[in-house]
Amino acid sequence: MLPFDSARLHFRPLTPADTAGMFALDSDPAVHRYLGGIGGQMVSTLAQSAQTIAYIEAQYAAVGIGRWAVVLRETGEFMGWAGLKLVAGPINGRHDFYDLGYRFLPRFWGQGYGFEAARAWLDYGFDVLHLPRICAYAGAHNVASRRILTKIGLREEPEEFLVEGLPCVWFEADAPYQT
Ligand SMILES: CC(C)(COP(=O)(O)OP(=O)(O)OC[C@H]1O[C@@H](n2cnc3c(N)ncnc32)[C@H](O)[C@@H]1OP(=O)(O)O)[C@@H](O)C(=O)NCCC(=O)NCCS
Repeated sequence: MLPFDSARLHFRPLTPADTAGMFALDSDPAVHRYLGGIGGQMVSTLAQSAQTIAYIEAQYAAVGIGRWAVVLRETGEFMGWAGLKLVAGPINGRHDFYDLGYRFLPRFWGQGYGFEAARAWLDYGFDVLHLPRICAYAGAHNVASRRILTKIGLREEPEEFLVEGLPCVWFEADAPYQT
């Protein structure tokens, strides 16, 4: 659970001090446009975001990982979250998989941060956590997210599947073989 950096981003565990940032994220319809309830519904009160953070902190305690805060190194601003979550499932027939995800405030979109965060977490999952496999899924219409997952090298499955009625696409990668 030690914070780490990529070129422009700082990754650290979420804390209750991130409640306002999480509320800004999850009360914004643009952020939730392609999510369709994946990873939680939109919120309307700060208390709901505080609950989300408490839920994530419980995951840290239970399994040692969960979504982490992403902070812009240059300014110290809270940008959103990224990271790996152990999902019990079943989703697309999969159980107990490590799911790579990310969610940023719109003012940070379109500058390569999503790709940078996803790449950093793929490496962290394989190199630091030694996970055998990392999975992800995105709404079929979430072009930016699908592009990120393809660019970092995950395999896309051809068959779509439904999550909460939303057509989704599945991605995964196995750990690189290491001698
Ligand atoms: C998805 C999200 C993280 C993308 O972050 P981002 O920082 O804007 O993405 P990047 O700038 O790294 O762009 C990644 C790729 O997607 C492309 N892209 C970005 N936004 C796009 C859009 N709206 N439409 C089409 N392509 C887009 C970029 O051009 C880039 O591809 P390229 O390298 O071939 O040019 C961001 O839009 C977000 O937080 N969305 C809300 C939450 C969400 O949907 N999370 C994913 C759930 S699966």
